[in-house]
Amino acid sequence: MNFYILTLFPDMVRELNTSIIGRAVQAGHLAIETVNIRDYTLDKHNRVDDYPYGGGAGMLMQAQPVYDAYQAVAERVGSRPRCIYLTPQGSTFTQAMAREYARETDLVFLCGHYEGIDERVLEEIVTDYVSIGDYVLTGGELPAMVMVDAISRMVPGVLTNQESGDFESFENGLLEYPQYSRPEEWMGRKVPPVLLSGHHKNIADWRQQQSEQRTKERRPDLWQRYLQRRQGETKEPGSFK
Ligand code: ADE
Repeated sequence: MNFYILTLFPDMVRELNTSIIGRAVQAGHLAIETVNIRDYTLDKHNRVDDYPYGGGAGMLMQAQPVYDAYQAVAERVGSRPRCIYLTPQGSTFTQAMAREYARETDLVFLCGHYEGIDERVLEEIVTDYVSIGDYVLTGGELPAMVMVDAISRMVPGVLTNQESGDFESFENGLLEYPQYSRPEEWMGRKVPPVLLSGHHKNIADWRQQQSEQRTKERRPDLWQRYLQRRQGETKEPGSFK
């Protein structure tokens, strides 16, 4: 899977090439390319922003360099890949969206700065408007990195242990159960005895119960959805995706 990140601050995004994502890039499962929008300006002073018509605070990124940066990617890959614009005005990013995007071969992220981007180029190239939550950041780079990380781990081969994909928070609609490693006792706190029992059925039951309790307490919204889904499944087996 190939990610192309269109940005005015490529240095912010380069740090992605570390840890699990870095390993997946090395192994050839992913490629992450940053495209500096400023490289595409036709302005003799290298400017990429200007005042908004009608007045108002701040500067806007101009259409031309953004469009040309996208076109350069499109020409190189020989198609017009999906283009995600990171904006608080978008749909809120979810695990289901990460799974869906992971099926694409090429994905472009457009990172805005200043007060935004000229609407006309958004209409021309953007296919998806995505937010990472109801708060406002100074630019789209951090949201793009969040999305690349979440999407990457859904790409086959990126996670070595298939289990970690299957059993984690949100994959089954519940939060993950608590985990423990050595020592058996730390600061007077003991590892729950069932985990030391070697009894696989009891361990699985305990983890399920912990996941449910944790979801109920910490994410009542997810718990309600989980209950509704379970009800739907008993009525119409297999109907829920
Ligand atoms: N740009 C600024 N804030 C953002 C947010 N919350 N999500 C996505 N892009 C953004």
